[in-house]
Amino acid sequence: MKKIGIFYSFNTKNTTEAANQIIKAFGNTNIEANNVEKISDAQFGAYENYILGVPTWFDGELPNYWDEFLPALEEFDLKGKTFALYGAGNQKEYSENFVDAIGILAETIELLGGKIIGFVANKGYKFDHSKALRGNHFVGLPLDFDTQKKLVPERIEKWVEQLKTEFK
Ligand SMILES: Cc1cc2nc3c(=O)[nH]c(=O)nc-3n(C[C@H](O)[C@H](O)[C@H](O)COP(=O)(O)O)c2cc1C
Repeated sequence: MKKIGIFYSFNTKNTTEAANQIIKAFGNTNIEANNVEKISDAQFGAYENYILGVPTWFDGELPNYWDEFLPALEEFDLKGKTFALYGAGNQKEYSENFVDAIGILAETIELLGGKIIGFVANKGYKFDHSKALRGNHFVGLPLDFDTQKKLVPERIEKWVEQLKTEFK
């Protein structure tokens, strides 16, 4: 497997906690953490395998720092690159917009030619609507630290095992 760049904001609480668990589940090797609030284009372009961490804020929106990175991201040709997405959200309080940010980012990446892996079945989640849902799968891993915190570690472990088989 080629080296993975994991991108998230180092200023987040839950997204950072998830990143640490993901890195540990990969055995702390072959994966590099990058702060999405401080990345250069060269740093982003340096990988072929990516994990992007994106919580949903503002009732179904990307956080500001991801939104601000989008113009730079849209300059990239992502053909040949592979992306796995995870996102923190709250299915009870934000049932109409559960982890929408995963869906928004997935759509942008696909428009730029990138391939998304790491789809997750919607079983075990209860919500009304999500931009991250395609059929009965999410286009990434939703993590609900607010209402299903106990399930987070096992969901991450299972997802990382899946990614190990799906990343090239
Ligand atoms: C003002 C506000 C708006 C939010 N909007 C959404 C939302 O639209 N969809 C969702 O799934 N979660 C939403 N959340 C829940 C957060 O995404 C969740 O608490 C997440 O764990 C925060 O992650 P972080 O600590 O990495 O920032 C919102 C939370 C707050 C406080």
